[in-house]
Amino acid sequence: MSQKDVTRGGGALFSDPGPDGFLHRAFLRGEGVPFEERTRRPVVGICSSWSELNPCNAGLRELAAAAKRGVAAAGGLALEFPTISLSEPFSRPSSMYLRNLMSIDVEEMISSSPIDAVVLLGGCDKTVPAQLMGAISAGKPAVLVTAGPRPVSCWRGRATTIDDAWPLIERRRLGEVSDEEWRDAEENLVIGAGTCNVLGTATTMAAVAEVLGFASPGSALPPAADLRRRAIAERAGELAVAAFHEGRQPAGLVSLASLENAFRVVCALGGSTNAVVHLEAIAGRAGLHLDAATLREWAAATPLLAAVRPSGDHLLSDLEEAGGVPAVVRELAPLLDLDTPTADGRSWKAVVDAVPKEAAVRTGTGVLAPLAEPLAASGMAVLTGSLAPDGAVLKVSAASERLLRHRGRAVVFDGIDDVNARIDDPELPVDADSVLVLRGLGVRGGPGMPEVGHVPIPAKLARQGVTDMVRVSDARMSGTSSGTVVLHVAPEAAAGGPLGLVRDGDMITLDVEAGTLDLEVDPAELNARRASTSPGGTAARGYDWIYQRHVLQPSHGCDFDFLRADFIGADQPAAADASRTVEANAGDGRLRAGPPE
Ligand code: FES
Repeated sequence: MSQKDVTRGGGALFSDPGPDGFLHRAFLRGEGVPFEERTRRPVVGICSSWSELNPCNAGLRELAAAAKRGVAAAGGLALEFPTISLSEPFSRPSSMYLRNLMSIDVEEMISSSPIDAVVLLGGCDKTVPAQLMGAISAGKPAVLVTAGPRPVSCWRGRATTIDDAWPLIERRRLGEVSDEEWRDAEENLVIGAGTCNVLGTATTMAAVAEVLGFASPGSALPPAADLRRRAIAERAGELAVAAFHEGRQPAGLVSLASLENAFRVVCALGGSTNAVVHLEAIAGRAGLHLDAATLREWAAATPLLAAVRPSGDHLLSDLEEAGGVPAVVRELAPLLDLDTPTADGRSWKAVVDAVPKEAAVRTGTGVLAPLAEPLAASGMAVLTGSLAPDGAVLKVSAASERLLRHRGRAVVFDGIDDVNARIDDPELPVDADSVLVLRGLGVRGGPGMPEVGHVPIPAKLARQGVTDMVRVSDARMSGTSSGTVVLHVAPEAAAGGPLGLVRDGDMITLDVEAGTLDLEVDPAELNARRASTSPGGTAARGYDWIYQRHVLQPSHGCDFDFLRADFIGADQPAAADASRTVEANAGDGRLRAGPPE
C-alpha cells in the first residue's frame, strides 16, 4: 500500500490500540514521558525557532517550558520541536529569501507529526510570518507567542534603541565617530534577548498576529525579560488545547475583515512596511488576495495614531502602558470589524469593551492619539503609477512631509555594490532634489528584497545638512529605519518592471496624496529601452533553483506560487485569482482550492 494515503499526523496515534500506537508510545517512553501521560489528548506541538544563530529568539526556551506547563494544566501533552530560524542580521542574502523555506518546514513538521494543535514560538522579523503561513497551510489549530522586545539601553545618557544604529553608522561613514565611540556603541546597542525594541517588523508582526487572532490580545508588547511573557506562553498552551477541542482552524481566522483590521492597525501604529508583504502572503495561504487599489484605499483612510520609535519619540513601553494593541484597536474601532475573533475565543468587541477607557488614550503622554485628533492623516501609503504598475509602499509616518509631493531627476544605482562605489563620489551628479533609484534588489533580483532600500544620503549633500531625499527601490527597508523611501516597487527590475528602464536624468514624480509614483518618459521610448535590455541569468541548483522559478512579486506576498491555497498543479500555477474559494480538506485538515464561484 502506498504511504501517500496514510493519514498524516494527529495525536490520536498515541491512543491507538494497535501496533502504531504501541510503537508511538514506546518511543515516547524513550524520552522519559510517564505511561499516564503518553495517551493524553490533545498532543500539542511546541514549534520553536530558538537558535543560537538568532539572538532575538534567545528567550524562547523559557517560553517553551511555560507553554508546556499550560498544555499540561489543560490536560494535554506537549512535545517541543525546532524548525529553521531566521535572523535578520545573520541570514544571507536576506532573511526574506528564506522565509518561504521556513514556512515549508513549519507546515510539514506540523502536518507530518503526531500532534493535534501547535503553539508557535517566534520572534525575529521573518519567523512570525513564516510560522503563520506554515500553520495556516498545515490546518491544525495554532496559537502564537512572540519573543517580546529586548531591553532598552541607556547609553551616554539617552535611551538607546536599535534605530539609533542607523544615524550612528551614517556618522561613522562620514568620519564623525571615533573608534572608541564605535566600540562603545557596539557594547551597548543590544543588551539582552528579544526582538528589536522599536516598532520595527518584529513588533509590527506581533501586533498583526494579535489582530488576526493568532496571539492573545495584549501579548505583543510585554518585554522579553518580563515574567508576564511566561504567563502569556502558559496561557497559549491552554488556548491551544481549547482550540483543538473547539476545532478552530487557523485559516478560519484569516478573512478579508481580519486582514483589513490588521492592515489598518499597522497603518495607525506607523508600523513596518514589511507587514504589507507578509499580510499578502498570509492572505494567499487562506485563498484570499489583497490588491493594491484596496490597500491604497484602506491606507489613505487610516490615520496615524501612535508616536513610537522609529516614527515618533516614544518607547514601546509607553505604548504598552497606554493599553497596547487592544487600545489601538479600541481607538480605531469605527474603522474596524470588531466581530472578528481573538486568540482567546472572544470577539474583538468583547476585548475592547474590557479595556478601561482611561487606559486607552493617555492624553498627556502623547504616545497614542485619539481617532478624532490623529497625529497625521495616514501612516502608510500604497502607491501605483507608471513606475510601479503593481504597487509600491511608503511609510509616511517615517517620511519628511515636504517630500510627500516631489518631482526630481533620477540618479540610478544598479545594486548595492554600485551604491557603495559611487554614493560618496564628489563628482556624482546629484543634488537635494534628485530622486535616488536603487534597483536590481527585488524579490528575484536581490534575491529576497534585502533591507537596503534606504540608500544613504550622498556624503557631499549630508555635509551640507541634507537629511532626507526621495528614494525609490524594489528592495525593502528595515522597519527600524526612516526617511522618504518608496519601497517594494513592483514589478521589480529583474522581472521586467519599468524600474529597470529608468536612466539618469529621467524625471520621477511622487504624489502621496494622489497615491501615485510616475516615470515621465514617453512609452515609445520605454519600449525602445526594453528591447535593448538583456534578460537576467538563471539559478543553477538547489533552493535558489526553486526560488527563482516559483517566487511571486510583492503584490502576492513574495510567496511561492505552489504554496498558495489557490495553486492547482504544476501545469497551472497560481493565478492569484481572488474569485477562487478555499475549503478545508476533511481528511487531513489541510487546505485545498475549491471550485471557482
Ligand atoms: Fe531580530 Fe530585529 S533583528 S527582531
